[in-house]
Amino acid sequence: MRATAAVLLVLCLLAISHAWDCQPVVDIYHLMQFDAGLGQVVATNTSQIPYYLVGDKWIRLPGSLKHITVGPAGIWGINSGNIIYKYVAGNWEQYAISVKQVDAGGDEFIVGATIDDTPFCVTSSTIVGIMGQDSRYHGTRLPGSVKYLSCGPFGCWAVNKNDEIYLMSNVNKDTCQNKGWSHIDGKLSMIEVATDGSVFGVNSEGQVFTRDGITASKPEGTGWSIVPMYMPMTHVTYDLGRLWVVSTSGFTMVCTR
Ligand SMILES: *[C@@H]1O[C@H](CO)[C@@H](O)[C@H](O)[C@H]1NC(C)=O
Repeated sequence: MRATAAVLLVLCLLAISHAWDCQPVVDIYHLMQFDAGLGQVVATNTSQIPYYLVGDKWIRLPGSLKHITVGPAGIWGINSGNIIYKYVAGNWEQYAISVKQVDAGGDEFIVGATIDDTPFCVTSSTIVGIMGQDSRYHGTRLPGSVKYLSCGPFGCWAVNKNDEIYLMSNVNKDTCQNKGWSHIDGKLSMIEVATDGSVFGVNSEGQVFTRDGITASKPEGTGWSIVPMYMPMTHVTYDLGRLWVVSTSGFTMVCTR
């Protein structure tokens, strides 16, 4: 009886520790933020140089960025002056100012947060045509106040300055119309939605979580599961079976299960 319990316990521990197999990313450049989407991976390093992954090599992109995103809406970045750029024909074209975070993971629309935590959305029809600064390319203000948001096929997830979590389902990609935010249990300091709809986030203690049970009819899912990591993390992104994590100490890994 006791032996069986011990065996079961060991099996459980093995199951947990084997859930994700993490390998260090060859990181001679000190990468600090990643975004993965549509099979592509982009990153920035601690000197704010943007990169694009080709094979096992990080290819330097032009310019200087503190935040970068890739997804159905293309490649977008933000520089140290909080100016948001779209990647157009190999260069960065300025789109707007006073933005601190952007996400291209929605269905060809983008969302982002301004420096004063105002969330916004830019429709897919606008996104397609953006070649640079132009007054016709206005974004739409979203309700509430959030510091980080990310969209996927079943909705947009966000966290506010108190690390509270919110979900906006059914954002209309042609109008940015929505039914507002609903509060989700838990606390996270950043959150990323993958192109397949999976949701990953990190809390202020560096623990990594994923949301279980997300489907088109239940976009809020059922609950949070911890993704065991051997060190505290500050950033995560997930695409096509690969979970990219950056530790608080600046160590980068890619995990598969
Ligand atoms: C960031 O990337 C640039 C360009 O490759 C490189 O010169 C710089 O040393 C990198 N920063 C760090 C901290 O490694």
